Amino acid sequence: MSKNLAVWEKAKREGRRMTVLTAYDFCSATLAEQAGLDCLLVGDSLGMVIAGDADTLRVSLEQMEYHTSLVAKATTKPLIMADLPFGSFEESPEQAFASSARLLKAGADIVKLEGGAIMAETIAFLSKRAIPVCAHIGLTPQHVRQFGGFKRQGKTQEAAQIIFDDAITLQAAGARIVLMEAVPSDLATQITKRLEIPTIGIGAGPNTDAQVLVFHDVLGLYPNKAPGFAKQYLNGASLITTALTQYATDIREGHFPT
Ligand code: KIV
Repeated sequence: MSKNLAVWEKAKREGRRMTVLTAYDFCSATLAEQAGLDCLLVGDSLGMVIAGDADTLRVSLEQMEYHTSLVAKATTKPLIMADLPFGSFEESPEQAFASSARLLKAGADIVKLEGGAIMAETIAFLSKRAIPVCAHIGLTPQHVRQFGGFKRQGKTQEAAQIIFDDAITLQAAGARIVLMEAVPSDLATQITKRLEIPTIGIGAGPNTDAQVLVFHDVLGLYPNKAPGFAKQYLNGASLITTALTQYATDIREGHFPT
C-alpha cells in the first residue's frame, strides 16, 4: 500500500524508486491509479494548468480542498499529497495546523508545504499533531516574486549548502518526505544519500528516491509551456485537438448524430 509512509521508507532502504504524478480531478486520478502511480500530488500547480494563471499565488485553500476531495473520491491505493497554498500556513504553526486539518479531512494523506529551515517550527508542530508533512525545497514556486521568476536554485556552493542544511533541519523537525525542485543533480544526490526519509525530485536529476511531474506536462497538454526538465510521453494537445476538430466537422456535415 503506497498510502503507508512506512512503505516509502522501506522502498528507500531497498532502493526501489517511487512514482508520483500530479492529479487534480476524478478523471486524471482514476487514470493515474490504473497506471499504478504510488502517489498523486494535488499540487497548487493547478492554478497554472487548470486555472491558466502565470503562477500559483492565487490558489485558495478552498480550491485545494475541493480538488483533493475529487482525487480522494477517485482512488484508494496511491498516497494523496495535497499542497498548502500560498497564504494558508506561513503566519503561524496554528494557522498551518488549521489549514492542514482541512486538507486531511478532504482526503489528503500528507500535506506539502514550501520553504526551508524557516518552516522547521511549523513542521514540528504539525508532525506532533498527527499531520504528516512533505517539505518542498529548492525552487519553491510560491516564492516566485522573491526569486524573480521560476529559476533553478542551489547553483552556487553557498546556495547549495543552504538547501542541504534545510533538508537536514526539516527531517529533524519531523518531515516525512523532502521534495526538491529544480536543483543541481549532485546536490539532490547528496541530500538523498544523507536523509533517512525519502526524497522526491522534479528537475533534480535521476538519483532521488522518487520522481514527480505535472500531469499536463507528461501528456503534452500544454507542450509550449512545459519546463525543460519535463518529459512528454504523449502528444496530447495535438491528439485531442484532432479529435475535437473531427467532432465539430461531423456535426457540421451531418455525420453525427446519425
Ligand atoms: O504544485 C505542484 O504541482 C508541485 C510540483 C511541481 C512539485 O509542487
